[in-house]
Amino acid sequence: METQLLMASVKANSLAAQLLRTGQVVAIPTETVYGLAADATNPAAVQRIFEAKGRPQDNPLIVHIAGQEMLAQVVAAWPPAAKRLADAFWPGPLTLVLPRAGGIAPAVGAGLATVGVRMPAHPVALDIIARAGVPLAAPSANRSGRPSPTTAAHVLQDMAGRIPLVVDGGNSPVGVESTVVSLAGKPTVLRPGFVTPAELSEALGQEVALAPSVQGPAEESGPVESPGVKYRHYAPKAKLTLVEGPLPAFAAFVAVKSTETPGVYAMCFTGEEKTLAVPAVPYGAEDDPKTQAAGLFAALRQLDEAGAQQVYARMPAGGGVGLAVRNRLLRAAQFRVESET
Ligand code: TXA
Ligand code: MG
Repeated sequence: METQLLMASVKANSLAAQLLRTGQVVAIPTETVYGLAADATNPAAVQRIFEAKGRPQDNPLIVHIAGQEMLAQVVAAWPPAAKRLADAFWPGPLTLVLPRAGGIAPAVGAGLATVGVRMPAHPVALDIIARAGVPLAAPSANRSGRPSPTTAAHVLQDMAGRIPLVVDGGNSPVGVESTVVSLAGKPTVLRPGFVTPAELSEALGQEVALAPSVQGPAEESGPVESPGVKYRHYAPKAKLTLVEGPLPAFAAFVAVKSTETPGVYAMCFTGEEKTLAVPAVPYGAEDDPKTQAAGLFAALRQLDEAGAQQVYARMPAGGGVGLAVRNRLLRAAQFRVESET
């Protein structure tokens, strides 16, 4: 299959909507990362997402809506906590997990009785959903296990030949995927994102819980609250290790490593490249987690393209949005962390 790449426009968005209505899969921009979209009410279309992505069938998809009037098609309940969070953060990078409505293809929920739903804050995404006229299931538009795509070029790296159309809406400004909050029981963050636990607690007037997988590895056995967290994720081809400690210790550490093995690269904060004895790719400013979120996935892909074999990354501080940055990096590194002081 030939994959078309079109800049977002009335014509491109209409073509996307037409393909979506006929059960095809189309990559679309959102404010977080690019999504691999299909009609959430069409089981065959949803199945095509799993095939294009190489995604395990037990990992559920997020459904995207253009306005709250689409909610009735997606969720079977809309509790007060959902209304509060939607009013505070939609359109925006927040996914709410709620009981699933009957019209949504069961594969979207991957065997769960729930569904994740969000209204993205991206004019192109909203326009395409509205033109399609149906809620769109859309996971991140990477091949399963790879870093999420924040540009149309990233999507093509993974999806060329697998889908008919990529709509280019520029760089995804947020850069990490949405915060996923379960409202099936006590409000619980299943995946950290741009909307922070403190912001959620404030909007709810009640403390939100953090699922254990937000901070650490998912349990090998036992129930998993969000199936996605148990899979290898966000991973570059290179072996990635996080290094905790100050810059001088990091610089000394990578210098030694580069004498021991070939292909050593550093992933650092902006401006640190010149103090490092190995090739380095910056992913954001040390004191600004929002820039780290925006640059993280592009940096991981850039390291692959450069042919890095061993990557040592500076550990982000982890406050605010930094919680999401840390969570993605820990998974990309399969929880390998070294401490240097
Ligand atoms: O920002 C985003 O959320 C992007 C853009 C495209 O919207 N989408 C995205 O989708 O990141 P995906 O499929 O890569 O990640 C969805 C996450 C997974 O961790 C999945 O397990 C969780 O959301 N999830 C989806 N539905 C769920 C449900 N019903 N219950 C629990 N977790 C769910
Ligand atoms: Mg993903």
